[in-house]
Amino acid sequence: MKIAVVGLGYVGLPLALQFARSCVDVLGIDVDARKVQLLNNGQSYIKHIEELVIAELLRTRKFSASTDFSLIKEVEAVIICVPTPLNKNREPDLSFIMQTGRSIAPHLAKKALVVLESTTYPGTTDEELRVVLEEESRMKAGVDFHLAFSPEREDPANQQSNVKRIPKVVGGYTPACLKHAIALYSRAVETVVPVSSCRVAEASKLLENIFRSVNIALVNELKIVYDAMGIDIWEVIHAAKTKPFGFMPFYPGPGLGGHCIPIDPFYLTWKAREYGKHTRFIELAGEINTAMPEHVVHRVVDALNARNKPVSRSRVLILGLAYKPNVDDERESPSYVLMNFLAERGAEVAYYDPYVPVIKPTRAHPQFTGRKSVEWDRATIENFDVVLIATNHSSVNYHELGDWARCIVDTRNAMAGVQVVSEKIWKA
Ligand SMILES: NC(=O)c1ccc[n+]([C@@H]2O[C@H](COP(=O)([O-])OP(=O)(O)OC[C@H]3O[C@@H](n4cnc5c(N)ncnc54)[C@H](O)[C@@H]3O)[C@@H](O)[C@H]2O)c1
Repeated sequence: MKIAVVGLGYVGLPLALQFARSCVDVLGIDVDARKVQLLNNGQSYIKHIEELVIAELLRTRKFSASTDFSLIKEVEAVIICVPTPLNKNREPDLSFIMQTGRSIAPHLAKKALVVLESTTYPGTTDEELRVVLEEESRMKAGVDFHLAFSPEREDPANQQSNVKRIPKVVGGYTPACLKHAIALYSRAVETVVPVSSCRVAEASKLLENIFRSVNIALVNELKIVYDAMGIDIWEVIHAAKTKPFGFMPFYPGPGLGGHCIPIDPFYLTWKAREYGKHTRFIELAGEINTAMPEHVVHRVVDALNARNKPVSRSRVLILGLAYKPNVDDERESPSYVLMNFLAERGAEVAYYDPYVPVIKPTRAHPQFTGRKSVEWDRATIENFDVVLIATNHSSVNYHELGDWARCIVDTRNAMAGVQVVSEKIWKA
């Protein structure tokens, strides 16, 4: 069997490699010629994806990459893993999905299966993508080609989790489409979970992400309330999670980051309006979570004040630019927001992140492009007035930090268990 995976990012590349490992011939397609060239040279641009794996699959000809959409004519299935961001008005931007649909449709073989994996609102696959595919291919979905939706469940940096073992929800446009999609994924993943439609599959992914967003907002709010009462939220969660049923721990932080949790829930908010419905939990969680960086900055100001330092002209080091520990993904990271807020208040801001040596250009924060992570040594660290822990990478030596830093604002409880004079540490 030969398939194509379109969009070789954090989702598409591991998926493509998993199919290739499962004896499927995989053609990876991306519009980014640099990524395609790196892959064909056996190089990886995602930290947790090993070059050895890519090189071996290239050697055995199970995997190759291209920018040429006309090669779609050779494959039996196409899996689409392109971005689904929000536009500047915070509305769904389906342009990547639509563009991909227009690019693959003219080359689609008869009876081929098209599966969308990008996170999106219910109706995208059977209304919007289907229409583009039908118009541009002059074929009918469910008759001439098959169509399905299967959401990705990536857990970057979790060593226990891999594409093969994570159950895969699949919904088809017709029962026959579902049958083809189940047959496809059964080749590469251990458990396939069929549902009755593409819309149910789309909605299940949104439920998963909204669940996280709402629960993170809950602990972020409780952090502030308990702090006012002199109670440490981390100790509370630690105690509560000993309950063996009906509780799942979520942890507070400096705000939401990554490509999914801050964005996806608002796909539903937008779509719900069409039905005259409001998504109050999503809005409230968004409000609380987006207010977190400001709360953290206030703690930094308090910590500096306590040392008779104005924030203006103070030297602040942000520890961790990636949005979560042990990954190199800094998309939508609250660290950028923190850097912005502190710089606006006149602070001199730098960052340390072993996973992000240089800041790549971003649309949202172009002013930080090209900035480099500082070195990790006593002379550098003790030179800052305050170190703000935004991400708790496990490779960081927190004992050294406790020893070297003058003052630490900790949003991740990273200093728990490190012996430091208590006046040095501010939880935020
Ligand atoms: N990153 C995650 O942990 C994660 C988890 C679950 C779901 N998702 C969802 O999966 C989708 C992809 O996310 P990602 O993190 O892999 O994004 P990404 O930005 O890492 O990768 C997307 C890739 O698609 C390519 N691309 C863009 N337009 C294209 C086009 N028209 N044709 C071909 N290639 C194109 C880009 O060059 C890029 O390589 C999104 O909808 C996201 O919400 C992501």
